[in-house]
Amino acid sequence: MYDIKSFKIKKKPVILGIESSCDETAAAVIRGRKLLSSKIISSATEQAKYGGVVPEIASRAHTEAVDEVVCLALEEAGVSVKDLDAVAVTYGAGLLGALLVGLSFAKSLAYALNIPLIAVNHIRGHMAAAYLVDEELKPPFITLLASGGHTAILHTSDYTHFEVLGGTCDDAAGGAFDKVARVLGLSYPGGVNVERLASDGKPVVALPKAKVKNSEELKFSYSGLKTAVINYCHTAEQRGDTVNKSDVACSFQYAAVVPLVQSVVECAVKLGVGTVTAGGGVIANGFLREELAKECKKAGLKLILPEKKYCTDNAAMIAAEGLLQYNEGNFADLSLNAVAAIPLK
Ligand code: KG4
Ligand code: ZN
Repeated sequence: MYDIKSFKIKKKPVILGIESSCDETAAAVIRGRKLLSSKIISSATEQAKYGGVVPEIASRAHTEAVDEVVCLALEEAGVSVKDLDAVAVTYGAGLLGALLVGLSFAKSLAYALNIPLIAVNHIRGHMAAAYLVDEELKPPFITLLASGGHTAILHTSDYTHFEVLGGTCDDAAGGAFDKVARVLGLSYPGGVNVERLASDGKPVVALPKAKVKNSEELKFSYSGLKTAVINYCHTAEQRGDTVNKSDVACSFQYAAVVPLVQSVVECAVKLGVGTVTAGGGVIANGFLREELAKECKKAGLKLILPEKKYCTDNAAMIAAEGLLQYNEGNFADLSLNAVAAIPLK
């Protein structure tokens, strides 16, 4: 019988993380906070033909890849399934059909090995990626979270509690990068292609900054910025003017990134918290990383920045968040289901 109350908590557990919420099938192994392996099989090239993620294609690709990616991660880590102390898996948010593949695989493994199953919220995974950068990292810290569906600044007070200091009131930063990519005729995945195009441009196009002015609360808006880019391009087209796409991309990137960086630094200084971390796909943006490093240095803040490959979707971050839940004895039972949307708090 699978009884979650019977599991003992070990000091440095070996945890397998599994991620399948979108178009990346990923598996990773950690021992305590040490990352032993991280593998990804992506269907992004297949999805690019359709200009975005087709859920059915993602589900099928996960089904074909999940066994292989787990085997690759175990092999690289030099551990066998029998060495595993727990399996942490993304149960939401994401595409239901895609999530169910990783979840079913993780449940079967946990049941067969009689080890704890840990339910991981994908977004909290992005926030936990920083723990793998610095094994000594301890709360409190301020986090800049920016992914395809979320944009927020958070104050983590202890390993499993955080407060949302501010966030977007409409679209997420990553979603805006993807939309602007489409407007500029760039292929999927959008964000990184906008960054490439922006590297040849200058921030000379006047666009609204992504921070809401005159608000009591810390609020960002990406919908207005995105619309301003669309309008700029359409107006130029109607007038028969040629648009310097590199300048548009660079100006958009500047307007999207600078307010986030300034705000996270301001929050840390205001609250007297000396450490800043970051997570989510947009944090892979080179300009954002440079700005964050520059501004944190200027303000005397310590910056813990995951490598780019641990900012975009991966399973190392799922294992890292799994460890935080494991240490609290937060185990899931086998009735765990996938959830398409989970509120940040
Ligand atoms: O965290 P993530 O991989 O998936 C979600 O959980 O959403 O984030 C994906 C988002 C996409 O919107 C993508 O355009 C954006 O992150 N992104 C970037 C870059 N790489 C990925 N945005 C700007 N610059 C990048 N280099
Ligand atoms: Zn993600």
